[in-house]
Amino acid sequence: MTFRTVADNRLLHGGDYNPDQWLDYPEILKDDLRLMKQAKTNTFTLGVFAWSALEPTEGEFQFGWLDERIDAIHKMGGRVILATPSGARPAWMSKKYPEVLRTSEKRTKMLHGGRHNHCFSSPVYREKVAIINRKLAERYGNHPALLMWHISNEFSGDCHCDFCQENFRSWLKDKYETLEKLNHAWWGPFWSHTITAWSEIESPSSIGESMVHGLNLDWKRFVTDQTIDFYKHEMVPLREISPTIPITTNFMADTHDLIPFQSLNYSEFAKHVDIVSWDCYPAWHNDWEETKELASKVGFINDLYRSLKQQPFLIMESTPSGVNWHDVNKTKRPGMHLLSSLQFIAHGSDSVLYFQWRKSRGSSEKFHGAVVDHDNSEGNRVFQDVSAVGDALEKIAEIKGTQKQAKVAIVYDWENNWALNDAQGFSHATKQYPQTLQKHYQSFWKKDISVDIVTLNQELSSYDLVIAPMLYMMSDETISKLESYVFNGGTLVSSYISGLVDDTDLAHLSGWPAPLKRIFGMEVKETDTLYPKDRNALIYNGKQYEIKDYCTIFENKEADVLATYMEDFYQGNPAVVKNSYGKGKAYFIGARTEQSFLDDLYEDIQQEGKLHTEANILHEEGVSVQTRESDDCYYFFVMNFTEQRQTITLKESFYDLLTQETKDELVELSPYEVMVLRKEK
Ligand code: GLA
Ligand code: GLA
Repeated sequence: MTFRTVADNRLLHGGDYNPDQWLDYPEILKDDLRLMKQAKTNTFTLGVFAWSALEPTEGEFQFGWLDERIDAIHKMGGRVILATPSGARPAWMSKKYPEVLRTSEKRTKMLHGGRHNHCFSSPVYREKVAIINRKLAERYGNHPALLMWHISNEFSGDCHCDFCQENFRSWLKDKYETLEKLNHAWWGPFWSHTITAWSEIESPSSIGESMVHGLNLDWKRFVTDQTIDFYKHEMVPLREISPTIPITTNFMADTHDLIPFQSLNYSEFAKHVDIVSWDCYPAWHNDWEETKELASKVGFINDLYRSLKQQPFLIMESTPSGVNWHDVNKTKRPGMHLLSSLQFIAHGSDSVLYFQWRKSRGSSEKFHGAVVDHDNSEGNRVFQDVSAVGDALEKIAEIKGTQKQAKVAIVYDWENNWALNDAQGFSHATKQYPQTLQKHYQSFWKKDISVDIVTLNQELSSYDLVIAPMLYMMSDETISKLESYVFNGGTLVSSYISGLVDDTDLAHLSGWPAPLKRIFGMEVKETDTLYPKDRNALIYNGKQYEIKDYCTIFENKEADVLATYMEDFYQGNPAVVKNSYGKGKAYFIGARTEQSFLDDLYEDIQQEGKLHTEANILHEEGVSVQTRESDDCYYFFVMNFTEQRQTITLKESFYDLLTQETKDELVELSPYEVMVLRKEK
C-alpha cells in the first residue's frame, strides 16, 4: 500500500501535544503556535488521552477544539499524528459500565483511575472505542494535515475477568483442539494438574496456579494476541475511511537496563503496524554505568525495533530534558540533547518526537521534561536545545528514508525470555538474557559494525554472522532453521543455556538435540550455576579471561577447542569450541565471560569473515560511528559518548552536513559532540 506521507520529506520533530488541558487558557494556545515555529518543530501528536474532552458525556461529542487546533497546525505548515483516545477513559464510562475496568490477577475488580487499565475483551469498551474511532476517522481521516494514526497508547498489562477467561479458553481450544494435547503440553500429571474440562482452566494467578510453565507461556502468548486483536479492532474504521494513512502504536522498553519491553511479543505485534514507533527514555548521566555503555544499549534497542520491519522507524516519544519517573530525574547536560537525538536518527529513526510539548500545570507529569516549561519562554536552555535539534534535522533531511545494512544479526526472542525467566533453575538474578545480548552487541558497537537484532520469524540467510546466545527454548523448527543456516555457509554463535526445551517449555529428551550436536560438534551435558562471588577462568589465544555465573560442561566430539576451563572439577574441559559444519561454522561459548573475551573473540570472527564498517574513520572507545545509506551515499554519524575531547582520524574526505563544509584528516570533537558526514558511493 502507498501511504500519503511518502510525499513529505521532512524528518519529524515535535511530539505529544495536549491542548485539551489548556482549553481555558486561550493565550497559551495562541503562544503554542508561535513557539512551535521557533522550536523548529513540525509534527504534533494530538488526542492521546483526550476522551473526556471529546465525549464529555455519553454520546455527546465535542470536536470544535480539535478542529481548531488541527487547522491551526496545518496553517503553520505542521502535521498531525492523531491518536485514538482509548488509553484512558472518562469517569462516566467506568461508572455506568464497570465491565470496562480490569480485573487483576488476584481477581480484584479495579476502580476507575490512572490509565492503560481497560479490559481488552469487554464488549462495551470495544463498542465505545469503535464509535469514537469512527467519528475521528470521518472527521479527520481526509484532513491534509493528518500524517498518521496513533492507536491508543503504550499497550500493556492483562485482565483476568470472566470475559477474558472465556477468550483464553477459546484461544486454547483453537490451539490444542483436545484436552489430551493440552495436558501433554502442560505436563498435566505434575502435582495432579491434569485438566478434565475446558471450564476448569483459569489464567495464572499468585493466589492460584503459577507453577504450570506451559500455562504461563500460553497466557503470555494469549495476552499478546488479545492485545493485537484489540488494536486491530481499533484499526477497522481508520483503515476503512482513510486507507492511505499509516497506522502505528507506540512501543516501549523496560527502562532501567533499557531492555526490550517484556510483557508483549513485539515481533508478533510489529506485523500489524504500518511503521514501528516507540518511546525511548534512557537515563543519561546516571550513576551506575558509563555514558558509552548506555549509548551502546540505546543502539541495541533501536536496532531491535528497526529490525522488526527492516525499515526506518519513528521515535514517538523522548524527553528534551529529564522525565518524572526515573529514581532520579536528572536533566540532560549541554550537548546531550543533540547527541542523543541524532543517535536515534543514526540507528534508523526518521523522527525525534517528544513527550511532551508543554509541561502540564497540574497532576503527576507537571515536572516531566517538555519543550515549553511553565515559564512559557523560548529563552530557556531546554527550548534552545530543542530548536538546535530542529535546525540539525532540517540540515540532514536528505537522510530520511535511508536504510541501515547489516551483515551481522543477533537473535532476540521474546518467548524465549518468558520461558527462561519462568524456569526454576539456574539463578534467578543472573539469567539476564536481554542484558547478555546487549553485551554481545557491544563488541560490534565498539567497532562501528552495523547489527540487526532479529527475531526467529525473520530470514537469516542474508547474514554472514548470526549470534543466538542463551536460546534456552528452541522448537524443532528453530533448530532446523539454524542447522540449514550453518550448513549453507553461515557462521553461528551460541552459548550456555541453549537448546534445553521446546516451544511448549517441555525439556528435549534423549540429551541435547541431535541437530545441535551436529552443528557444534559436541554435546552439552550439564550447566553449572555459580554463586555471585564464584569465579573461573579460561585461556584464549594465550590470554586469560574471567568467568562467572554459568559454565557449560560438554563432551567434545569433533569441534576445535578454542579455550578450556582453568578451575574446578571440569578444569581442562573445553569451554569454547568452533566447529565446521557443511559450508559453515559454529561457535559455542560455554561460559559467561568478561566483556573483553567477547570483544576479542568477535574481533577474530570479524577478521575471518571480513566483517567491517564502510566508515574509514578511526577513533578511541566511546565514540560510535553509525551508518545509514541511500543508493548513492553513505551517511556516517560520528558521536562522542564520552566526557572528554576526542580526536577523530578521517582517512578520506567527507562532507559535514551540519557545518556544511568538507572535512578530512584530524578533527576534534568536544564532549558529547556529533558530526554527520556524507560520502558518495
Ligand atoms: C519438597 C517436596 C517435593 C519437591 C522438593 C523439591 O521436598 O516435597 O515434592 O518439590 O521439595 O526440592
Ligand atoms: C509514556 C507515556 C506518556 C508519558 C511518558 C512520560 O511514554 O506514553 O504519556 O506518560 O511516558 O515519560
